[in-house]
Amino acid sequence: MHRPAPTNWISTPSTPALAAGEIHVWHALLAEAPCQRAWLNEEERRRLERIPDPGARQAFCANRTLLRRLLADYLDKDPGKVPILLSEQGRPRLTEGDLDFNLSHAGGHLLLAFARGMSVGIDCEAPRPIHNARDVAQRMFNAEEFGQWRREESTQAGFFALWTRMEARQKCLGEGLFAQRISPDAVSSHAFQIVDMPACLAWSPRREVTIRFLRPAAL
Ligand SMILES: CC(C)(COP(=O)(O)OP(=O)(O)OC[C@H]1O[C@@H](n2cnc3c(N)ncnc32)[C@H](O)[C@@H]1OP(=O)(O)O)[C@@H](O)C(=O)NCCC(=O)NCCS
Repeated sequence: MHRPAPTNWISTPSTPALAAGEIHVWHALLAEAPCQRAWLNEEERRRLERIPDPGARQAFCANRTLLRRLLADYLDKDPGKVPILLSEQGRPRLTEGDLDFNLSHAGGHLLLAFARGMSVGIDCEAPRPIHNARDVAQRMFNAEEFGQWRREESTQAGFFALWTRMEARQKCLGEGLFAQRISPDAVSSHAFQIVDMPACLAWSPRREVTIRFLRPAAL
């Protein structure tokens, strides 16, 4: 499995306008991101209070703070008034309008994807040994992907490249990992790396898009 081409991350002090046909992917380090508890809605505050580990609590609050700040900029709304709901499958989404978003966090990194008029899914994974990798791959990848992984000597890097692609497409269409399997043909996707972590963005319907990779200059 080839390594994706390097990504050109642009650090920006403000949120650029999100044009039709564009996807914005934002990257931030959770430990550096502030927590604005006052912006969280009831459901988010309840969830925050149930997280026992202080580091994980900070990470969740920081994730929702940056998510709400960016959504507020795209929607020209107050961050605390951005109406985020969870779908039955647990996918956060807006209650109205054509702006879609998705997020993924691993190893202290947060990735957020935003688009108008299409659905987006994003995933990143910190590579680690997988117990029973063959069984997991056979169960979670489709036959073609499983065959590809076996042909490429069943490496850990190959596993996570295919895993992030699979998870991004499941998340794009709002399915969790164990719900209906989405065919790779149902979405377009783009693989990339953050530091040493494989990551993948998926979008639907399939079309040509411009992807902008952004980092907030200040958090
Ligand atoms: C949800 C799931 C796809 C997340 O995968 P993961 O690799 O553990 O974590 P990631 O960091 O990549 O993604 C997590 C984010 O995906 C989003 N998400 C959750 N459910 C989602 C879904 N069904 N579709 C798309 N995105 C989803 C959330 O924003 C979540 O982050 P947050 O909880 O901090 O907001 C995976 O855990 C799963 O499918 N679990 C089984 C279903 C499940 O337990 N659902 C619980 C709610 S009913």
